[in-house]
Amino acid sequence: MLNKSKSYLLNEGEGGKHNLNLQHAILHEVTFNQLQKGGLKEGMVIWDVGCGSGDVTEMIAENVGSDGKVYAADISEEQLNVTRQRMDNKGYKNVEYINESIEKINPDEYENADLVHSRFLLMHVQDVSSILTKMAELLKPGGVVVSQESSMDSLRNKSSCKSIDSYFDLMNRYGRKKGLNFNVGSTLEKFFINSGPFQDIKTEKTRISFDSENGKKLLLSRLDEIKDRLIEEKLTDRAAIMQIKDDIEQYVQVELAENSVIYTEQTHILAKVLDLSE
Ligand SMILES: C[S@@+](CC[C@H](N)C(=O)[O-])C[C@H]1O[C@@H](n2cnc3c(N)ncnc32)[C@H](O)[C@@H]1O
Repeated sequence: MLNKSKSYLLNEGEGGKHNLNLQHAILHEVTFNQLQKGGLKEGMVIWDVGCGSGDVTEMIAENVGSDGKVYAADISEEQLNVTRQRMDNKGYKNVEYINESIEKINPDEYENADLVHSRFLLMHVQDVSSILTKMAELLKPGGVVVSQESSMDSLRNKSSCKSIDSYFDLMNRYGRKKGLNFNVGSTLEKFFINSGPFQDIKTEKTRISFDSENGKKLLLSRLDEIKDRLIEEKLTDRAAIMQIKDDIEQYVQVELAENSVIYTEQTHILAKVLDLSE
């Protein structure tokens, strides 16, 4: 089934799970750290918006325990089914599944939340501000948003493989063509300042390094995942993209970097929704 947003670059459901899991293997510590800074603890009510394959949903469900609750929301039914299956298999009963675009969620239908989490959601939406406003509406006064986004233009490629630059450039061009901002990470703080009733906005930067085994795997398998869409959009042709893939394949086999030579920057925002009673 097509993602209702029709601009989603990645595969959905079972087809997208592998790469989201791989990405999570690289990121889970950083994400957990941010959730802890946001106060993650037993008994909390937490939204995981744009939950994808449920990697962070599971982390949250485990930590809020049976007295807490997770609202796992995704615009894509296929994605949500993967999350539901995963959580059912592991016996989690503290999760409610919401197959809806976040913009359309009616906060009155749910318990006021302590925390709203999103990771790599905002780069896939056209109207970032309205989503941040909605996140604020889902929270109780003083509740916290924990958000993580990347920015493609933060790529630093000090390797000898220039095809990695071409690959990221193609992704950026896809984003621009679809009205998406794949560099949302670099301006995320401004979005929070301008979009909603937030206070105490804290920003941290981390890096995703593609030099590790998992990083190299992700570079290649994501290219495989998206190459047909890049061709469909006439951003490249099959010969050119296969050349890029060959170059990267050769590079990752031959070069074993000791220091980080290929990385992108992640932006983490922790923001409190205004408590007017304070
Ligand atoms: C790149 S995935 C990230 C998944 C997960 N947060 C993670 O980090 O592993 C982005 C997810 O956001 C979902 N999504 C995109 N637009 C959305 C919207 N407007 N409302 C809810 N979910 C949306 C997509 O279907 C996809 O599952």
